[in-house]
Order: sequence, then C-alpha cells, then structure tokens
Amino acid sequence: MDSLSRPELFDFHGVSMTHYFTDNWENIQNFQARPDDILIASYPKAGNTWVSYILDLLCFGQTSPERQTSIPIYARVPNLEITLPPLQPGSGTFSTTHKGTEMLDRLPTSPRLIKTHLPVHFMPKSFWEQNCRIIYVGRNAKDSTVSYFHFERMMMIQPEPGDWSSYVQRFMQGKMVFGSWYDHVNGWWKKKQTYSNIHYMFYEDMIEDAGRETDKLCCFLGLSPSVEEKERIRGEVQFDDMKRNNKVNYKTFSGMDFKASSFIRKGKVGDWKNHFTVAQSEVFDEDYKKKMKDPTLHFRTSI
Ligand code: A3P
Repeated sequence: MDSLSRPELFDFHGVSMTHYFTDNWENIQNFQARPDDILIASYPKAGNTWVSYILDLLCFGQTSPERQTSIPIYARVPNLEITLPPLQPGSGTFSTTHKGTEMLDRLPTSPRLIKTHLPVHFMPKSFWEQNCRIIYVGRNAKDSTVSYFHFERMMMIQPEPGDWSSYVQRFMQGKMVFGSWYDHVNGWWKKKQTYSNIHYMFYEDMIEDAGRETDKLCCFLGLSPSVEEKERIRGEVQFDDMKRNNKVNYKTFSGMDFKASSFIRKGKVGDWKNHFTVAQSEVFDEDYKKKMKDPTLHFRTSI
C-alpha cells in the first residue's frame, strides 16, 4: 500500500467498508480509551469537522492557541479508524503510514478529541468501560446523500461515486462506506437510551442556532467559557471562515481533488432539492418511512 487508490467496497461483518478503515482493525478494537476522551461520532458528512473545531476551540482555544494555526484539524482530532499510506512524498501530509490509533496514542494533549464514523456496534469496548463522553452528530438523510456524493467525487480514498441516480439507490441500500445511514443514526440513538454519556445533536439545529447548540455542548461537557470566548468561537466557526481557514478546510490533505469539489462545500439545509428529482424524492421518502420507525428520532430536511 504505497499510494492512494480508489478502494472497493466490501462486506465487513455486515457493513460496507473499505480497507482504509479496516486495515488496522485489531488495534482499533483493542484501543485503550481514557476516561476524559471526548468522541465525536457521526455518519460521514454530518458536520463532524464543524463540531470538532468548536470542541477544539472550547478545550484548547485559551490554553494552546498556537494549535489552531500550526496543526490541521485532522491531526488535532484524529480519526480513530483510518489507515493511510504515505501521502505524496514531500507534500507534508503524512510521511509514513498513518494509523489513527497510533496518532491518538501519541497525542500530547488532554482531553483527546477523537473522530469516528464507526457504527455503534463497531466501537472499541474501552469507550463504554471508561464511560467516555460521546457527541453524536446527525444530519438529515437527503442532504447527507448529496454531501457524501460530492465528497466521493473529490476524496481519493473513497470509492468512485458513479452517477447521481445510482448513488441514491446505493445510499438507500446502505452500500456506502460505513454502511447504512439508517442503521447508523438509529443504532447510536438506541445506544443513548442505555448509555447516558451521549449527547445526540443535529446539523440542522447547528445551522439554525450554532450558539445555542454550543451552549448545550458546554453544558454536556461541564465547560463554562466566558461570553467573549463564546463570541470569538462563534465568529471562527462560521461557514465562510472555515472555508477560508486552511487548517480546517483540508486544503493541506493531499488525498483530495479540490478541482472536483470542496470539503467545506455548501453548508446548507435542503441542498437535496437541487439534486433529487421529484420521482427520486418520492421513492426515497417511501423507503425512509419503512426504515425510520422510531417516532422519537426526528430529522429535518428543511428549515
Ligand atoms: P456540504 O457538503 O453539504 O456543504 P463532515 O465534516 O462530517 O465531513 O461534514 C461536512 C459537511 O459539513 C459539508 O456539508 C460541509 O460544508 C459542512 N460544514 C462544515 N463546516 C460548516 C459550517 N461551519 N457551517 C455549515 N456547514 C458546515
């Protein structure tokens, strides 16, 4: 494995995955979480980077401000399950094989902020044993489909997305990296009923009022930033600022083709209306009703 190549999807214990997220499986399963670790979990494209950046500013904005200008977000908040080969020698991204678990073991800071897209039943058991605080970010299915589609166009370690119409079909069938969106959001929601240290939040609520949602995060984590600090964070994490900020927009990550799309792309609720035909939307809605039976879990597709 010495260069990036578009991977094949395969069935991994009943979930579609690619080797980039299963190569290091034994170490992932044996990962030793610490009691103060904070996990940011989501299905891909739910706003994980946005929430991670807010958490990083809340935890380290005052104590290590240099972190924000010297370390990219993917190194500040490492992805637990990723394994990457050395990326383009000289590009400065990763010079040796990069394993999320090793990067986390080497992190000098505490608490560790950890990103994951794993479905809940794939989580290493130490997170439950250590009673770690977990933030789950959900985003409505249709916008997730759109965002994932554009992401796969630009992300060289994802499978080729193919055309939009077959992509929607694959999304409904759960033949995506990290499996079915429906199983993912429901699985983590169900876990919340028995494991109280999960804060389940929604991208749409962040769009509606990021300040309010940041207050909820602070409450969950027992943080009490000053009004000025919260105001500073609110400014830094706005869409346009994040899009411009080379430490959070992945511009330094050489596995992405920015000519195809952007990582911080559009940042809207309801962009699905620009992609789904009326017929696709109707089929999607019918299928959605069958899979999303829990009336307590509610996603908004427009606000
Ligand atoms: P779009 O592709 O719809 O624009 P993740 O970080 O989990 O991969 O999620 C990426 C999605 O979050 C992208 O959605 C991205 O634009 C959006 N996003 C990131 N930062 C944002 C912000 N500050 N405000 C709104 N959306 C943001």
